[in-house]
Amino acid sequence: MPSQPQVGWEHVDMVPWRTAMQQALYGPSGFYLRERPGAHFRTSVHASRLFASAVAELVRRVDEALGHPGRFDLVDVGAGGGELLTAVAGLEDLSGRLAPCAVEVAARPDGVPAEIGWRPEMPEAVTGLVIANEWLDNIPLDVVELSPDGPRLVLVDPATGTERLGPAPSAADLTWIRRWWPLRKPGDRAEVGLPRCAAWADVVSSLHAGLAVAIDYGHLLADRPMAGTLTGYLDGRMVRPVPDGSCDITAHAALDACLDPDGVLTDQRSALRALGLTGARPSIELARIDPRGYLAALCAAGEEAELIDPGGLGGFGWLLRPVGINHFHDTMAW
Ligand SMILES: C[S@@+](CC[C@H](N)C(=O)[O-])C[C@H]1O[C@@H](n2cnc3c(N)ncnc32)[C@H](O)[C@@H]1O
Repeated sequence: MPSQPQVGWEHVDMVPWRTAMQQALYGPSGFYLRERPGAHFRTSVHASRLFASAVAELVRRVDEALGHPGRFDLVDVGAGGGELLTAVAGLEDLSGRLAPCAVEVAARPDGVPAEIGWRPEMPEAVTGLVIANEWLDNIPLDVVELSPDGPRLVLVDPATGTERLGPAPSAADLTWIRRWWPLRKPGDRAEVGLPRCAAWADVVSSLHAGLAVAIDYGHLLADRPMAGTLTGYLDGRMVRPVPDGSCDITAHAALDACLDPDGVLTDQRSALRALGLTGARPSIELARIDPRGYLAALCAAGEEAELIDPGGLGGFGWLLRPVGINHFHDTMAW
C-alpha cells in the first residue's frame, strides 16, 4: 500500500522550537502550570537544606553591603514549589526586615508560609537579593541548524517531536549566533540564547540595589555542544524532548552570553565555598567527645560535597550581577 501523503501537514503544524516550548511549558495546559518541578527532577534546592543556608548567608552579606535597609527583598524567580524561600525564611529573619517573594507562573501551593509573597511577574525596584535557580534553562528558545544552504530555523511538530528545517533565522538571531555560538559545519546546531539574555536583563533592571544571581547548568563559548542540549524530563527520568506538554523541556544555558561588564560568572563550587560550604569532614576527635555531633557534621559534609561536586551541581554556573554595591565581588572573592 502506498504511504499516505501528508499534504500540508508539515506546513501547518510545524513551529519553531521557541513557540513549541512556550506552549508546552507555559500554555493553558502547559507542563509548569500543572506540575511541580520537584516531582520530576532534583535541583540544589531539593538536594540539601544546606543550599538554603548558603543563600541565607548570601542574604546576610548583601544586607551588610547595602547597609541594612529597612526592608530587604528576597525574590526567587522561577520559584517552583517555593521550597527555597520557605527554607530561607525559616533560617533568616533579619529582625523582621526580610520580605520574601516568589515569582512563579504556577499557582501558589498550599502550605507556603503567609509571609512569602507569590506573583507571576518581577516586582519593581527590588532592594536585596534576586535568585533564579534553574530558571534560565526553561526559558523557551529557538534552535538553528547550519544547512548546506546556510543557517535555518529548526521547526518541530509539537505532537511528535519530529523536526525539519524551516526558513532563515532573524537578523538578531544570526548576530547572536555569530557572536555566541558560531556554526562551523552542516548539521551543527545553536540554541539561540537571546530570549534568555533579555529575560536576565529584565531581572537586573528590576533591581534598585543589591545582587541578582542566576544559577544554571550551561556551557561556555569555547565549548558549545554542537549537537544541542534540548532534553525532556519526566518523573525523574530523561525523556525525548517532545513539546506536547507531557514533560519538562530544557536546554543548557549559555550564561557567558548574558554576562555584562559589571557581572561575574563563576561556578557553584567556588560560590558555595565562598559562602562557607566546604565539604570538609569533621575531625575524628569529635567522634570521641560528641558522637552525635560527629555524625551530624559528617552528614552535612556529605551534603556539602554533593552541592560543590565539580562534576555535578558544583559545576553549575553562577551569574552574579551587583547593582549599587559595586565592590561586592571584591568582598566575596568568588
Ligand atoms: C526548573 S524549575 C526550578 C524551580 C526552583 N527554582 C528550584 O530550583 O527547584 C523552573 C521554574 O521556573 C518557572 N518559570 C519559568 N519561566 C517563568 C517566568 N517567566 N515567570 C515565572 N516563573 C517562571 C517554572 O514554572 C518552574 O517552576
